[in-house]
Amino acid sequence: MNIKDLYIDYFVSKGHKQIPSAPIVPENDPSVLFNTAGMQPLIPYLMGIKHPYGTRLVDYQKCIRTNDLDSIGDTTRYTFLEMLGNWSLGDYFKKESIGYSFEFLTKVLNIPVEKLAVTCFIGDDVIPRDEESANIWRSLGIKDKRIAFLGREDNFWIAGEFGPCGPDTEIFYFRSEDPVPEVFDPNDERWVEIWNNVFMQYSKNSDGTITDLPHKNVDTGMGVERITAVLEGVNDNYKASIWKNLISEIEKLSGVNYEGNEESIRIIADHIRSAVFIAADEAGIKPSNTDQGYILRRLIRRLIRHAKKLGIDLNSNFEEKLALIVINDYKKYYKELEKNANVVLEVLKNEKIKFNRTLEKGLKEFEKCIRNIDCKYLNKDLAFKLYDTYGFPIELTVEVADEHGMIVDVDGFYEKFKAHQDLSRAGSKEKFKGGLSGDGEMETKYHTATHLLNAALKIVVNKDVHQKGSNITPERMRFDFSCDHKLSDEEKKKTEELVNKWINQGLDVKVAEMSKEDALKSGAECMFIDKYPDIVTVYSIGDVSKELCGGPHVANTKELGKFKIVKEEASSAGVRRIKAVLE
Ligand code: ALA
Repeated sequence: MNIKDLYIDYFVSKGHKQIPSAPIVPENDPSVLFNTAGMQPLIPYLMGIKHPYGTRLVDYQKCIRTNDLDSIGDTTRYTFLEMLGNWSLGDYFKKESIGYSFEFLTKVLNIPVEKLAVTCFIGDDVIPRDEESANIWRSLGIKDKRIAFLGREDNFWIAGEFGPCGPDTEIFYFRSEDPVPEVFDPNDERWVEIWNNVFMQYSKNSDGTITDLPHKNVDTGMGVERITAVLEGVNDNYKASIWKNLISEIEKLSGVNYEGNEESIRIIADHIRSAVFIAADEAGIKPSNTDQGYILRRLIRRLIRHAKKLGIDLNSNFEEKLALIVINDYKKYYKELEKNANVVLEVLKNEKIKFNRTLEKGLKEFEKCIRNIDCKYLNKDLAFKLYDTYGFPIELTVEVADEHGMIVDVDGFYEKFKAHQDLSRAGSKEKFKGGLSGDGEMETKYHTATHLLNAALKIVVNKDVHQKGSNITPERMRFDFSCDHKLSDEEKKKTEELVNKWINQGLDVKVAEMSKEDALKSGAECMFIDKYPDIVTVYSIGDVSKELCGGPHVANTKELGKFKIVKEEASSAGVRRIKAVLE
């Protein structure tokens, strides 16, 4: 039986009403492009409005997550995902919620208790330690050694910056053939999070304060893809049954095996599934250069390029064959797929024809550049030409360049992009997450934080650390840098402390124009010297950082708030990646 049916049936038997999956574009939150969690359509009800279906709800919700769009291709990430959720709107709270989760996992899915571990909120000066949840887990047979207490970063949940939120308890499964260790280590990657129960009793307001909600709610979320992979015991989520039909068809169309071509095949599979769901949604999204339409365009164009890479004939109706598999696999659960099938096929075909016309020529432009062996980076003019003339979304240009060991002048591209952009579109840029984001207030702060992080890493890790890339959205910054080892906890902590020290010192950010020569003589840092014109702008932050940069930046580091490293991971050989947020 399908996990979705088991889940719905279980919670219906516990007095929950099933609600339909909401459209993929949030109806009550214009600041986000897509629903990213099951709770998003329920925000007004979590805030206190009465829900027509009552106080106990259950559903599966289609979600699109675009923050990591360019990282799709590994074993665990997807753009489209389905989330199982159950909610109590001022009805039951921790005891029942945890009890239901435990019973569903151990009795319905028959997961042995020995393979489970949990985390609970450790407490801070605002919100108390969640001993209550831990006690409930203990009473159900989870041993103390399998309960970890963690801070806000891990055990406090909020969608975005404001709104309903609360401490959570997360359930982990030991996904490995190895003997299960007695003590749960949340940093051990063999433990994977499968379910998150959020105790939403607070609201974070726009001034940063936290107040009580009218009711104590429960919001839970479990990803269908992950739990399916876990239950099926595969070590690559794309080897789960969910992907079987689609991946077999890609193998058939291309004549190559999944083994050896995993990355491209995962990208094609993920992107076609996401594109079908977006195009079939009642929101009526069409490929375009803004907002949701741009994400759809990026997905289709990227999957076409990977199809070409695998040798699929782009003039065949391969996209239709793949889309029909997605529609067939999911139509039982999402009626709109069949209803809007013709729209989906048309969207895919038209976008393919459009991109096909220029793809070949665009790739030739790349080759020309590569033949010039001095060309280690792709300059802004070519990046813009590839976008404007050949229809390459900038992210695609970066990806192709990366395959050839080249780096793209992304900042320069955005400068040109902005200069060409119709002013009337300025408004929609603000909510352009994960795409061509505008320089809103948060992005500006993250720009400045990027310079501080770059400077701090040189002191804490190694003076030879250099920036290899960066990407900023209103929610977070991502920073790639040269480094030959995984940062230790100590290094991460020191880096954070140093950046926060500089923020608290209230350092002024100054900008100066000077000749490139003078800038270099003054010791200013820059990624690729050749890409800059003779007169450059240099931003300095107190006397801790000096970089060639186009800005924009805040006026004083005080504006940044608290800097926090959320993740440190490998990016490519010799390059590490830090994701960080400002709180
Ligand atoms: N809203 C919570 C999440 O998405 C359950 O993890």
